[in-house]
Amino acid sequence: MLTVAILAAGKGTRMASSLPKVLHKLSGKTLLQRVIDSCKKLKPNKIFIIVGHKSKEVENSVLKNKNIHFIVQNPQKGTGHAIQVLSQQVKRHEGELIVLNGDVPLIKSETLKKLINYHDSKTADVSLITTKKKNPHGYGRVFIKDNLIERIVEEKDCNNDERSNVLTNAGIYCFKWKSLSMIINALESNNKQKEIYLTDTITLLEKSYSFEVEDNGELQGINNRVQLSECEETIQSLIKEKHMLEGVTFINPASCTISEESIIGLDVIIEANTHIRGNSKISNNCKIGPNSFIEDTIVNENCEIINSTIFNSKIMDNVKIGPYSHIRPNCEISSHSKIGNFVEIKNSQLDKEVKVNHLSYIGDSKVGKYTNIGAGTITANFDGTKKYPTNIGKNSSIGANTVLIAPINLGDSVTTGAGSVITKDSQNNCLAIARSKQVNIKNWKKNKS
Ligand code: UD1
Ligand code: MG
Repeated sequence: MLTVAILAAGKGTRMASSLPKVLHKLSGKTLLQRVIDSCKKLKPNKIFIIVGHKSKEVENSVLKNKNIHFIVQNPQKGTGHAIQVLSQQVKRHEGELIVLNGDVPLIKSETLKKLINYHDSKTADVSLITTKKKNPHGYGRVFIKDNLIERIVEEKDCNNDERSNVLTNAGIYCFKWKSLSMIINALESNNKQKEIYLTDTITLLEKSYSFEVEDNGELQGINNRVQLSECEETIQSLIKEKHMLEGVTFINPASCTISEESIIGLDVIIEANTHIRGNSKISNNCKIGPNSFIEDTIVNENCEIINSTIFNSKIMDNVKIGPYSHIRPNCEISSHSKIGNFVEIKNSQLDKEVKVNHLSYIGDSKVGKYTNIGAGTITANFDGTKKYPTNIGKNSSIGANTVLIAPINLGDSVTTGAGSVITKDSQNNCLAIARSKQVNIKNWKKNKS
């Protein structure tokens, strides 16, 4: 039987933040959720999350799952104290207990599986992941004697000699829960931090083994924002490398970020300073960027998006967007359409080969195929209280600087005169024009020459 405990009760003082440490995010996902997702793949019986500082906030951040239970540790007297609280509240201490620090977010489930296999093969009381670090500063140092871990000394408790040891504790343990429960209450807090350390269990248990793993970034703990950014870089390098090996070109990868969930097709070119977030899908042969932000959006083949922002929308094939367009949620832009400079579109469906080339706002609208929206067209969709729809048929030609006062319906092949304020519906093939007639007043200025 396998049980998991994730330590997430601490404040994270070194983050200098009002947000609990485990709620800081890496590539859009909290540190805690990353650890949980990694553990879920082990299919444990139960996952206990030890919460304390801002416990409700932490609980609410976790995606609901019937296997997850929260244990409140208040006050927080150290990592060993967290497991004391757990052991008091959970009476049956059967099988193995995996304990993970909630601030070591990149741990892979494969590594956890290897730890469990190693632990089984040794019939150990505890096996823990260790790694040799070039810069071990801040980590507990692991001392081995006769193939067993003899003790772990925290950075703050180390003498100079001990501090030079580069074998560190990753904060990920596999305990035989029965053995652990027999000694857990014997832990004391006679150390510099006056905390009850989980690492002291090692000395109290008989068979404590080190499972050493190469330091490849996976075991990076996060205690401050420098380490947070190091982890972000590790994740992003892996994501971009994977896409590159699968046929995506990045012009300046360091300036781009891509979510783990995003799918990117063959021969896509991602220009500098481009960010693809959430569940986005970019299909083959698109050119995205520079300076573009795309979130939760599907982009079909052969599109070009430059200097633009798109949220939660669907862009069909061969569409050109930008520079400087803003596509807000719930838009569908059909094939071969062109959205040009300084155009904002919201909650609208544009049929194929529609052109909105300059300086327009299209909101809550449906636009038929082949229609051209002239420069400066505005759909006035809001009367201060409610939003109203605009429908424009196919093959229409909306003149420059038209204001369409919604709700309004224009038929197919409608033309509007430039500068019109259109307040009434218009039938197929009409010219709708609503502007005052020009008057030329002669001799307004006398010719002085
Ligand atoms: C801990 C280990 C250290 C290891 C390092 C790896 C101890 C004593 N030290 O140090 O050997 O090298 O992790 O990253 O365990 N927490 C609670 N309740 C508490 C205190 C902490 O749940 O009372 C949680 C924190 O929220 C955090 C985790 O335990 O997620 C680790 O605590 P932290 O203070 O970061 O320990 P480190 O100093 O990093
Ligand atoms: Mg830590």
